[in-house]
Amino acid sequence: MLVWAGMSTAPVLTNLALQERLNSARRLTDSIFARLTPEALYSRPIPERHRLIFYLGHLEAFDWNLVCRKTLNVATFSPQFDTLFEFGIDPPVGQAASDQPSDWPEVQDIQTYNLRVRAIIDELLDQTPEQIIQVILEHRLMHAETLAYLLHNLPYDQKTPAVTPQVYSAKPLPNPMIEIAPGLATLGQKRGEFGWDNEFDEHRVHVPDFRVSKYKITNGQYLDFVRNGACPPNFWLQRPNKTQTDWFYRGMFSEVPLPLNAPVYVTHAEASAYARWAGKQLPTEAQFHRAAYGTPPHETSGHSERPYPWGSAEPGGSAKPGARQGNFNFHQWDPMDVDAHPTGDSAFGVSQLVGNGWEWTSTKFGPFPGFEPMSFYPGYSRNFFDEEHYVMKGGSPVTAACMLRRSFRNWFRPNYPYVYASFRLVED
Ligand SMILES: [Fe+2]
Repeated sequence: MLVWAGMSTAPVLTNLALQERLNSARRLTDSIFARLTPEALYSRPIPERHRLIFYLGHLEAFDWNLVCRKTLNVATFSPQFDTLFEFGIDPPVGQAASDQPSDWPEVQDIQTYNLRVRAIIDELLDQTPEQIIQVILEHRLMHAETLAYLLHNLPYDQKTPAVTPQVYSAKPLPNPMIEIAPGLATLGQKRGEFGWDNEFDEHRVHVPDFRVSKYKITNGQYLDFVRNGACPPNFWLQRPNKTQTDWFYRGMFSEVPLPLNAPVYVTHAEASAYARWAGKQLPTEAQFHRAAYGTPPHETSGHSERPYPWGSAEPGGSAKPGARQGNFNFHQWDPMDVDAHPTGDSAFGVSQLVGNGWEWTSTKFGPFPGFEPMSFYPGYSRNFFDEEHYVMKGGSPVTAACMLRRSFRNWFRPNYPYVYASFRLVED
């Protein structure tokens, strides 16, 4: 059984706070859709995913199906939309769907459905168990991130740009290996706290000493690998110059000369190949935890870990970019330099373990001891315990603050090239 905070008799005040969070998440996803031109809405920027129009209906259909149909037994007003927009797709790379734009409903009809769903859900919020509200909230925020990946792959003339030009440095930046003392790492979430099924049960593992790169591997470091024959990542492109070929980063709203000190976004397969080339490895999930949340022996007697790499302060509190602990929570769309957030360093002095790009681990996505699927969403994690997905930790520029908790796990196929996924190296 999954245990959540609050259980079903949520106080009205808590629900008021949750209503505000839900409104805020809706404003976020509405603002992303508002960037699209009408024709973009029916396009499919990533072959392995649905057309964008699916997601316009999916967020509300998910909320309706979970809150109204499965939890409160409310009679449906649109069974066709409830079903059409119920599930996303995750086929192996290369196996794209074949539906046509004309197979999907008109935008106006979906928006009418959405407004009605929102009104009914808001009315029923006081009767809805808190854990169910948390699920629809985080589901929407996860989709805000996946919508960003989809938008990233649209032509620039099909989306309205955000004007936040990123400034990158070109100074040489060494990436030293930092010694991590042996110790315990706590994986997973405490029963009684909110989490998705794959975060349970909380457990501790002993991690022997190892060394880890202070920074995420940068575009500049990866460029050496490409110059030695590796394929460039999906986020790069080449423009021929008179005398040479220049590399560019394909940003969300424009191309910029390759920012050499920003993290390289790569697939798991590319990250693993780089690690082999460099004579090192990707960290395991437990090593990531140890480097991010552990403390050196001289700072503590016995076992001590932090909720976040920088300590216990909630992420994203400061409006000032320089004072933030990392690049996350939709403050901007593209990565920053890997040394941009010293205030977010872990106790061991490792930088940007949270934010600025998820981090690949060498750990295959699987259940923790004591795992039980959520009764109302049994396939959420279990469908991906197939040895075909790898765990990612940390968070990207477009990961919402609530999902930066220590126990949160993300996962993708090793050849899926569209996510903001970075990596760092370890050696024993
Ligand atoms: Fe979904």
